[in-house]
Amino acid sequence: MTQDDMKKAAAEAALDYIDFEMIVGVGTGSTANHFIDALARVKGKIDGAVASSVATAERLKKHNIPVLDLNDVGQLAIYVDGADEATKHLHLIKGGGGALTREKIVVGASEKFICIADYTKLVPVLGKFPLPVEVIPMARSFVGRQLVKLGGQPALRTGFTTDNGNLILDVSGLEILNPLELETLINQIPGVVTVGLFAHRPADVLILGSETGTQVYTA
Ligand code: A5P
Repeated sequence: MTQDDMKKAAAEAALDYIDFEMIVGVGTGSTANHFIDALARVKGKIDGAVASSVATAERLKKHNIPVLDLNDVGQLAIYVDGADEATKHLHLIKGGGGALTREKIVVGASEKFICIADYTKLVPVLGKFPLPVEVIPMARSFVGRQLVKLGGQPALRTGFTTDNGNLILDVSGLEILNPLELETLINQIPGVVTVGLFAHRPADVLILGSETGTQVYTA
């Protein structure tokens, strides 16, 4: 079984949480793509989807799943997305694909966050995966210096602009023992749009695909 097969298994398992007349928030990345493909099979059941990126919106449209503007809908029942790292406390690092800001917005507007991943994403402590931080371009150097003061080594993601026209700093060297505190500290740096730590709003359910089946962790 490949890592991609395990991502697919987790994505398929998330279909159990989809109910009639739901508007579904949809994440970004290879695992979320598997979920979109699975969602297409039950598209008659749902009222539509809100996308967390341009790429996700395009994939949903290809499957003829109605893509709704977040401003035109109320609270979403559910949000389904992958992660780069996850703990058993359901704290996450996200943003490997650069869509962290819209992902955090759509999560914020959703009642339930189902995180789908392969088991290799489960870690005891977050931080081995470089933490993505979306920054306003003119603040890049300033924010970088503040991140160094917090103990990180920021690197500019070269040749990449977010869907919002901003840059990403990938911060390595962090051992994130207190994700709630670090999320607050980084979000308070002027020029930071979003940090890819999802601790104040963790997942509600974590589905991990593995060679022996899927494991489900809940809050
Ligand atoms: C996108 O910006 C990310 O938050 C993804 O959810 C994360 O990078 C997981 O990606 P994969 O599903 O491709 O591993």
